[in-house]
Amino acid sequence: MPKAILLSKKDKNKNSTSPLQQISVDDDSAELIKLINITKTYNLGKPNAFAALKGITLEISKGTFTAIMGPSGSGKSSLMNILGALDVPTSGTYLVNGKEVNSLSDSQLADFRNKTVGFIFQQYNLLPRLTVAENVLLPTLYGSISNPLDKMEELLSKVGLQDKINNKPNQLSGGEMQRVAIARALMMNPSIIMADEPTGNLDTRTSVEIMNLFNEIHKEGNTIILITHEDDIAAHAETTINIRDGLILNE
Ligand SMILES: Nc1ncnc2c1ncn2[C@@H]1O[C@H](COP(=O)(O)OP(=O)(O)OP(=O)(O)O)[C@@H](O)[C@H]1O
Ligand SMILES: [Mg+2]
Repeated sequence: MPKAILLSKKDKNKNSTSPLQQISVDDDSAELIKLINITKTYNLGKPNAFAALKGITLEISKGTFTAIMGPSGSGKSSLMNILGALDVPTSGTYLVNGKEVNSLSDSQLADFRNKTVGFIFQQYNLLPRLTVAENVLLPTLYGSISNPLDKMEELLSKVGLQDKINNKPNQLSGGEMQRVAIARALMMNPSIIMADEPTGNLDTRTSVEIMNLFNEIHKEGNTIILITHEDDIAAHAETTINIRDGLILNE
Protein backbone atom coordinates (compact mmCIF):
# COMPACT_ATOMS: atom_id res chain seq x y z
CA MET A 1 0.00 0.00 0.00
CA PRO A 2 1.39 3.42 -0.81
CA LYS A 3 2.46 4.68 2.55
CA ALA A 4 -0.25 6.98 3.47
CA ILE A 5 0.38 10.58 3.00
CA LEU A 6 0.04 12.76 5.89
CA LEU A 7 1.84 11.02 8.65
CA SER A 8 4.39 13.71 9.24
CA LYS A 9 2.45 16.34 11.09
CA LYS A 10 0.31 14.31 13.35
CA ASP A 11 2.58 13.45 16.22
CA LYS A 12 3.75 16.99 16.61
CA ASN A 13 0.27 18.17 17.37
CA LYS A 14 -0.92 15.19 19.25
CA ASN A 15 -1.20 16.81 22.64
CA SER A 16 -2.18 20.27 21.58
CA THR A 17 -5.50 21.47 22.86
CA SER A 18 -7.97 22.52 20.25
CA PRO A 19 -9.03 26.14 20.56
CA LEU A 20 -12.43 24.83 19.65
CA GLN A 21 -12.84 23.28 23.07
CA GLN A 22 -14.44 26.62 23.81
CA ILE A 23 -17.35 25.50 21.70
CA SER A 24 -16.93 21.89 22.60
CA VAL A 25 -20.00 19.92 21.70
CA ASP A 26 -19.41 17.46 24.49
CA ASP A 27 -21.26 19.34 27.18
CA ASP A 28 -24.84 18.51 27.94
CA SER A 29 -26.55 21.61 26.62
CA ALA A 30 -29.48 20.38 24.62
CA GLU A 31 -29.33 23.04 21.93
CA LEU A 32 -26.32 22.24 19.88
CA ILE A 33 -27.22 24.44 16.95
CA LYS A 34 -29.34 27.54 16.89
CA LEU A 35 -30.08 29.72 13.88
CA ILE A 36 -31.86 32.99 14.42
CA ASN A 37 -33.34 34.74 11.40
CA ILE A 38 -30.58 33.65 9.04
CA THR A 39 -30.67 35.09 5.53
CA LYS A 40 -28.46 34.43 2.55
CA THR A 41 -28.51 36.65 -0.52
CA TYR A 42 -26.10 35.71 -3.26
CA ASN A 43 -24.60 38.54 -5.33
CA LEU A 44 -25.78 41.06 -2.77
CA GLY A 45 -26.10 44.56 -4.21
CA LYS A 46 -25.79 43.39 -7.80
CA PRO A 47 -28.53 43.18 -10.44
CA ASN A 48 -28.47 39.41 -10.18
CA ALA A 49 -28.90 39.38 -6.38
CA PHE A 50 -30.80 36.29 -5.25
CA ALA A 51 -32.33 35.73 -1.82
CA ALA A 52 -31.84 32.00 -1.25
CA LEU A 53 -32.60 32.05 2.51
CA LYS A 54 -35.14 34.57 3.76
CA GLY A 55 -35.04 34.25 7.54
CA ILE A 56 -34.42 30.79 8.91
CA THR A 57 -34.84 30.20 12.64
CA LEU A 58 -34.28 26.72 13.97
CA GLU A 59 -32.74 24.69 16.76
CA ILE A 60 -31.11 21.31 16.54
CA SER A 61 -30.43 19.41 19.75
CA LYS A 62 -27.41 17.28 20.44
CA GLY A 63 -27.73 13.65 19.38
CA THR A 64 -30.77 14.18 17.17
CA PHE A 65 -31.30 13.07 13.57
CA THR A 66 -32.80 15.85 11.44
CA ALA A 67 -33.81 15.71 7.80
CA ILE A 68 -34.02 18.86 5.70
CA MET A 69 -36.45 18.49 2.80
CA GLY A 70 -37.60 20.75 0.02
CA PRO A 71 -37.77 21.10 -3.75
CA SER A 72 -34.77 21.85 -5.92
CA GLY A 73 -33.67 25.45 -5.46
CA SER A 74 -35.46 25.91 -2.12
CA GLY A 75 -32.23 26.65 -0.25
CA LYS A 76 -31.26 23.32 1.32
CA SER A 77 -27.60 23.35 0.30
CA SER A 78 -27.35 27.07 1.06
CA LEU A 79 -28.55 26.28 4.58
CA MET A 80 -26.19 23.33 4.94
CA ASN A 81 -23.23 25.43 3.82
CA ILE A 82 -23.99 27.91 6.58
CA LEU A 83 -24.52 25.15 9.18
CA GLY A 84 -21.13 23.70 8.25
CA ALA A 85 -19.44 27.12 8.34
CA LEU A 86 -18.52 26.64 4.69
CA ASP A 87 -20.33 29.90 3.90
CA VAL A 88 -21.36 32.94 5.91
CA PRO A 89 -24.93 34.21 6.19
CA THR A 90 -25.86 37.65 4.91
CA SER A 91 -27.60 38.40 8.22
CA GLY A 92 -28.79 36.60 11.32
CA THR A 93 -27.11 34.70 14.12
CA TYR A 94 -25.62 31.22 14.12
CA LEU A 95 -24.80 29.73 17.51
CA VAL A 96 -23.09 26.42 18.23
CA ASN A 97 -23.39 25.53 21.90
CA GLY A 98 -24.29 29.11 22.63
CA LYS A 99 -21.24 30.54 20.90
CA GLU A 100 -21.55 32.74 17.84
CA VAL A 101 -19.88 31.15 14.89
CA ASN A 102 -19.00 34.51 13.36
CA SER A 103 -16.99 35.36 16.45
CA LEU A 104 -14.65 32.40 15.97
CA SER A 105 -11.10 32.95 14.83
CA ASP A 106 -9.93 31.46 11.54
CA SER A 107 -8.24 28.59 13.32
CA GLN A 108 -11.31 27.88 15.42
CA LEU A 109 -13.40 27.84 12.26
CA ALA A 110 -10.96 25.51 10.57
CA ASP A 111 -11.16 23.20 13.59
CA PHE A 112 -14.94 23.34 13.51
CA ARG A 113 -14.97 22.22 9.87
CA ASN A 114 -12.27 19.61 10.36
CA LYS A 115 -13.04 18.11 13.77
CA THR A 116 -16.54 18.95 14.90
CA VAL A 117 -18.33 18.35 11.60
CA GLY A 118 -18.04 15.51 9.10
CA PHE A 119 -19.36 16.32 5.61
CA ILE A 120 -20.86 13.95 3.06
CA PHE A 121 -21.91 15.17 -0.39
CA GLN A 122 -24.04 13.78 -3.20
CA GLN A 123 -21.06 13.71 -5.56
CA TYR A 124 -18.85 11.99 -2.94
CA ASN A 125 -16.03 14.54 -3.53
CA LEU A 126 -13.27 11.94 -3.35
CA LEU A 127 -9.87 12.86 -4.73
CA PRO A 128 -9.48 10.73 -7.89
CA ARG A 129 -5.72 10.26 -7.69
CA LEU A 130 -5.70 9.05 -4.11
CA THR A 131 -6.49 5.52 -3.01
CA VAL A 132 -9.44 4.68 -0.79
CA ALA A 133 -7.09 4.60 2.21
CA GLU A 134 -5.56 7.96 1.34
CA ASN A 135 -8.94 9.58 0.80
CA VAL A 136 -10.09 8.43 4.22
CA LEU A 137 -6.87 9.71 5.80
CA LEU A 138 -7.18 13.11 4.14
CA PRO A 139 -8.72 14.96 7.12
CA THR A 140 -5.67 14.05 9.21
CA LEU A 141 -3.68 16.45 7.03
CA TYR A 142 -5.42 19.31 8.78
CA GLY A 143 -5.77 17.97 12.29
CA SER A 144 -4.36 15.19 14.41
CA ILE A 145 -5.82 12.04 15.88
CA SER A 146 -4.00 9.17 17.50
CA ASN A 147 -3.34 6.05 15.39
CA PRO A 148 -4.80 7.34 12.12
CA LEU A 149 -3.92 4.17 10.19
CA ASP A 150 -5.75 1.95 12.67
CA LYS A 151 -8.70 4.29 12.63
CA MET A 152 -8.78 4.32 8.82
CA GLU A 153 -8.80 0.51 8.71
CA GLU A 154 -11.46 0.31 11.40
CA LEU A 155 -13.71 2.73 9.50
CA LEU A 156 -13.22 0.98 6.17
CA SER A 157 -14.21 -2.29 7.85
CA LYS A 158 -17.23 -0.59 9.37
CA VAL A 159 -18.42 0.48 5.91
CA GLY A 160 -17.50 -2.93 4.45
CA LEU A 161 -14.64 -1.79 2.22
CA GLN A 162 -11.63 -3.41 3.85
CA ASP A 163 -10.95 -5.24 0.58
CA LYS A 164 -10.91 -2.05 -1.52
CA ILE A 165 -8.37 -0.15 0.51
CA ASN A 166 -5.93 0.28 -2.38
CA ASN A 167 -8.50 0.96 -5.08
CA LYS A 168 -8.81 4.35 -6.69
CA PRO A 169 -12.27 5.97 -6.71
CA ASN A 170 -12.79 5.14 -10.42
CA GLN A 171 -12.49 1.47 -9.48
CA LEU A 172 -15.51 1.69 -7.16
CA SER A 173 -19.28 1.72 -7.56
CA GLY A 174 -21.28 4.79 -6.52
CA GLY A 175 -22.39 3.18 -3.28
CA GLU A 176 -18.80 2.20 -2.51
CA MET A 177 -17.59 5.74 -3.20
CA GLN A 178 -20.23 7.10 -0.84
CA ARG A 179 -19.13 4.61 1.82
CA VAL A 180 -15.55 5.87 1.43
CA ALA A 181 -16.88 9.41 1.84
CA ILE A 182 -18.71 8.35 5.01
CA ALA A 183 -15.55 6.74 6.41
CA ARG A 184 -13.65 9.93 5.59
CA ALA A 185 -16.33 12.06 7.30
CA LEU A 186 -15.96 9.96 10.45
CA MET A 187 -12.16 10.01 10.53
CA MET A 188 -11.75 12.90 12.98
CA ASN A 189 -14.48 11.61 15.32
CA PRO A 190 -16.85 14.47 14.56
CA SER A 191 -19.95 14.81 16.69
CA ILE A 192 -22.06 16.32 13.91
CA ILE A 193 -22.53 14.65 10.53
CA MET A 194 -23.88 16.84 7.72
CA ALA A 195 -24.91 15.05 4.57
CA ASP A 196 -26.24 16.76 1.43
CA GLU A 197 -28.27 14.26 -0.63
CA PRO A 198 -25.98 11.36 0.29
CA THR A 199 -28.19 8.85 -1.51
CA GLY A 200 -29.08 11.12 -4.43
CA ASN A 201 -27.00 9.14 -6.91
CA LEU A 202 -27.69 5.68 -5.54
CA ASP A 203 -30.21 2.97 -6.32
CA THR A 204 -32.78 1.99 -3.73
CA ARG A 205 -30.96 -1.02 -2.33
CA THR A 206 -27.69 0.87 -1.96
CA SER A 207 -29.55 3.81 -0.42
CA VAL A 208 -30.91 1.45 2.23
CA GLU A 209 -27.36 0.30 3.04
CA ILE A 210 -26.16 3.88 3.33
CA MET A 211 -29.12 4.80 5.55
CA ASN A 212 -28.37 1.83 7.78
CA LEU A 213 -24.90 3.31 8.25
CA PHE A 214 -26.39 6.70 9.15
CA ASN A 215 -28.71 5.03 11.66
CA GLU A 216 -25.73 3.28 13.23
CA ILE A 217 -23.76 6.54 13.42
CA HIS A 218 -26.79 8.20 15.02
CA LYS A 219 -27.15 5.41 17.60
CA GLU A 220 -23.53 5.99 18.59
CA GLY A 221 -24.63 9.40 19.86
CA ASN A 222 -23.82 11.65 16.92
CA THR A 223 -25.97 14.47 15.64
CA ILE A 224 -27.05 13.98 12.05
CA ILE A 225 -28.35 16.61 9.65
CA LEU A 226 -29.31 15.16 6.30
CA ILE A 227 -30.68 16.83 3.20
CA THR A 228 -32.90 14.74 0.99
CA HIS A 229 -35.63 14.94 -1.63
CA GLU A 230 -36.98 11.53 -0.75
CA ASP A 231 -39.66 10.80 1.84
CA ASP A 232 -38.42 7.31 2.57
CA ILE A 233 -34.93 8.65 3.32
CA ALA A 234 -36.34 11.42 5.54
CA ALA A 235 -38.36 8.78 7.38
CA HIS A 236 -35.13 7.65 9.08
CA ALA A 237 -34.88 11.03 10.85
CA GLU A 238 -36.59 12.01 14.08
CA THR A 239 -37.43 15.50 12.84
CA THR A 240 -38.03 16.88 9.37
CA ILE A 241 -37.56 20.52 8.49
CA ASN A 242 -39.35 21.49 5.28
CA ILE A 243 -38.00 24.38 3.26
CA ARG A 244 -39.77 26.27 0.46
CA ASP A 245 -38.31 29.32 -1.26
CA GLY A 246 -35.82 30.01 1.49
CA LEU A 247 -38.27 29.72 4.38
CA ILE A 248 -39.15 26.95 6.82
CA LEU A 249 -42.69 25.65 6.48
CA ASN A 250 -42.86 23.99 9.88
CA GLU A 251 -40.58 24.00 12.87
N1 LIG B 1 -23.35 30.83 -5.47
C1 LIG B 1 -24.59 31.17 -5.86
N2 LIG B 1 -24.81 32.30 -6.54
C2 LIG B 1 -26.05 32.67 -6.93
N3 LIG B 1 -27.15 31.94 -6.68
C3 LIG B 1 -26.99 30.78 -6.02
C4 LIG B 1 -25.71 30.33 -5.58
N4 LIG B 1 -25.86 29.14 -4.95
C5 LIG B 1 -27.17 28.87 -4.99
N5 LIG B 1 -27.86 29.85 -5.63
C6 LIG B 1 -29.31 29.91 -5.84
O1 LIG B 1 -29.95 29.82 -4.57
C7 LIG B 1 -31.10 28.98 -4.64
C8 LIG B 1 -30.97 27.88 -3.62
O2 LIG B 1 -29.90 27.02 -4.02
P1 LIG B 1 -29.53 25.73 -3.19
O3 LIG B 1 -28.33 25.13 -3.80
O4 LIG B 1 -29.47 26.09 -1.75
O5 LIG B 1 -30.84 24.83 -3.46
P2 LIG B 1 -31.15 23.34 -3.04
O6 LIG B 1 -32.41 23.38 -2.23
O7 LIG B 1 -29.97 22.72 -2.41
O8 LIG B 1 -31.49 22.65 -4.44
P3 LIG B 1 -31.14 21.17 -5.00
O9 LIG B 1 -32.18 20.28 -4.41
O10 LIG B 1 -31.33 21.33 -6.48
O11 LIG B 1 -29.75 20.83 -4.61
C9 LIG B 1 -31.18 28.48 -6.08
O12 LIG B 1 -32.12 29.25 -6.77
C10 LIG B 1 -29.80 28.72 -6.64
O13 LIG B 1 -29.84 29.03 -8.00
MG1 LIG C 1 -28.65 21.20 -3.02
